[in-house]
Amino acid sequence: MSAPGRSQALVPEPVRGEGAAMNTAWHGRGRRLAIHEVGPRDGLQAEAAFVPTAEKIRLIDALSLTGVARIEVTAFVSPRAVPALADAEPVMRGIRRQPGVVYSALVPNLRGAERAIDAGADELNLVMSASESHNLANLRMTCAQSFQALGEVVALARQARVPVSISLSCSFGCPIEGDAGAARVPDWCARFVDTLGVQRLTLCDTTGMAYPTQVHALTGATLQRWPQAELTLHFHNTRGMGLANILAAIDAGATRLDSALGGLGGCPYAPGATGNVCTEDIVHALALMGFDTGCDLAALLSVARRLPALVGHPFPGQLVSAGRRLDLRPAGRAAPPFAGSPSTQETP
Ligand code: COA
Ligand code: ZN
Repeated sequence: MSAPGRSQALVPEPVRGEGAAMNTAWHGRGRRLAIHEVGPRDGLQAEAAFVPTAEKIRLIDALSLTGVARIEVTAFVSPRAVPALADAEPVMRGIRRQPGVVYSALVPNLRGAERAIDAGADELNLVMSASESHNLANLRMTCAQSFQALGEVVALARQARVPVSISLSCSFGCPIEGDAGAARVPDWCARFVDTLGVQRLTLCDTTGMAYPTQVHALTGATLQRWPQAELTLHFHNTRGMGLANILAAIDAGATRLDSALGGLGGCPYAPGATGNVCTEDIVHALALMGFDTGCDLAALLSVARRLPALVGHPFPGQLVSAGRRLDLRPAGRAAPPFAGSPSTQETP
């Protein structure tokens, strides 16, 4: 981790995490990180059972009150490709927006962009893959065709004055073709930033193939080449490296992270894809380390506890069952998993 700043006077207050931990280079020193909640899109897109529209809206409305900076509400994709999000319009139109929260939508092509703009998305999150094989499986286009489609979408969005971001799937490896596409990530970023003029980029680790040194190198190089870019990192915890990758990205300068409540998620067209990094788990860890995510952990936990009823199965996130670090338990043998009752403790 890079050395902390020398001027203690510049350290914002309050800072979480105390004592000797303050003096380590790993301490966040109150640095602000933006959490982008992608659960309603990435989390729900792979669910076998359709989550009713009203329940999706209730989930997003609750997430709107947790302090996350952005919520990816849904995807305006073919309802045949992703039946779970076939209700994109009523969801986008039905949510209660909170000031300061950006409500984005995933868009693969011009048709999706028209639908998303019409439904009132604040931001279009365009998607293509760094991997030819994954792009063909997911979007039924070559990467070149996808790039052409993104160009058309960017032009339309500019006319409509709707901001765009671009998410590049399989930026850290592809389960079908390995690292071939990942090697082309800087070229794609150059085309997005320098050719299309898009400053908001998300590098996605679609199937949890990223590892910390790789993340550090790519994040650092991207931010160095385009310091003006708003770079987001999107990790899946498929191989247990999610939090390590986040810390590597932060150390390389990242300040924006995608995550999904409960650790739900995964691309239905990427073999072996499993959940995103879990929002409440990473918010807890980052707060302990002295970062400011702006999120209310108790509020996130209370929404996360409702997930099993919503999706009909347990979820990968660990904090709801383990409890926060200082959610203490009575002594005894083999205590059952922590029930997740709200704690009176202030620290996460
Ligand atoms: N929204 C709704 N319908 C769409 C659409 C969109 N954005 N884009 C295309 N369609 C419809 C067409 O109107 C056509 O409908 P019809 O058969 O009733 O005439 C049908 O889908 C096929 O259109 P086509 O252009 O041939 O698309 P395709 O079958 O080659 O599929 C995508 C291309 C991009 C639409 C599709 O692969 C897709 O939606 N993928 C998204 C996958 C995803 O979300 N993955 C997870 C996130 S990374
Ligand atoms: Zn994802």
